Amino acid sequence: MLKSLANRLHYYYKLHPFLVFIISLSLGITILVVLSLYESRYRTMNSYRKLDMSSNVYPFAKLKNLVMVGHSVYTSSSCERVDKEDSWFLESYQRNPGQAATFVTHIQEGVEITAKDDRALLLFSGGETRKDAGPRSEAQSYWTVAESKGWFGNEEGVRWRALTEEHARDSFENLLFSVCRFRELTGTYPENITVVSYNFKKERFSHLHRSAIGFPDSRFFYYGTPTTSTSKEAALKGEALVRAQFQEDPYGCRGTLRRKKLGRDPFHRSIPYPNGCPEIEGLFRYCGAGPYPGSLPWTK
Ligand SMILES: *[C@@H]1O[C@H](CO)[C@@H](O)[C@H](O)[C@H]1NC(C)=O
Repeated sequence: MLKSLANRLHYYYKLHPFLVFIISLSLGITILVVLSLYESRYRTMNSYRKLDMSSNVYPFAKLKNLVMVGHSVYTSSSCERVDKEDSWFLESYQRNPGQAATFVTHIQEGVEITAKDDRALLLFSGGETRKDAGPRSEAQSYWTVAESKGWFGNEEGVRWRALTEEHARDSFENLLFSVCRFRELTGTYPENITVVSYNFKKERFSHLHRSAIGFPDSRFFYYGTPTTSTSKEAALKGEALVRAQFQEDPYGCRGTLRRKKLGRDPFHRSIPYPNGCPEIEGLFRYCGAGPYPGSLPWTK
């Protein structure tokens, strides 16, 4: 049987050597392609499974709530001058006396809110967004300030559960990336989210960004602090503009917002997400004017 097959092949080969060669070549290539596809899918499935199976090894599995703080880069090399404006990279509208102190206030509020909730994970969020600040993330600079301030008297309770999200380039990413990072650290998605920032950004976070990720209003909290009185007018004007942009482009992925975001990546950092939060991969890819239509872990 096998022998007759071999004989027949030999016969065909003699008759149409080129044709047989082409057929065997394409057969070989097809097998290779199928195998490599199968292998890569198998590998990703396996890594997801590994993530899920090892849920007991998530280092912060006991934490249920997210507290997120994010904004400007602290650049001073010594930590003694965190209250001085020239130690921070500030937007022109932010260069006012007392402005740096408002950042420290955010950090302090974040730490204190976390201290009061023993199921909270504190994330400082923000990437390496300014060329002149060098390759230091906003998140790292916030963490460093908290450290230099002795965690405002909460070192023992908060330091171990204060971490960083080091890739966000705008406020929407502050929220989205922090949620992903939370999943990466705890194995689940936050039950409650608290955002600490300025009063004037409340509408942006609590309404625009929150609804863009479809997170329930009842489990979203905003802690706003005032900006300095001298910068308030310019800040409000700038905020109205950015809010209008996010209204049209809630995912910050088109036109002006997208360009601004690309400009805030001087060191070409690759973004690791949605690795670490495979359930919301679709949300990361989505770029529409309306809300994301897919299902999300927190809406189930
Ligand atoms: C989330 O917030 C609600 C409303 O304040 C509260 O009842 C609930 O206990 C919080 N969940 C956790 C895990 O702290």
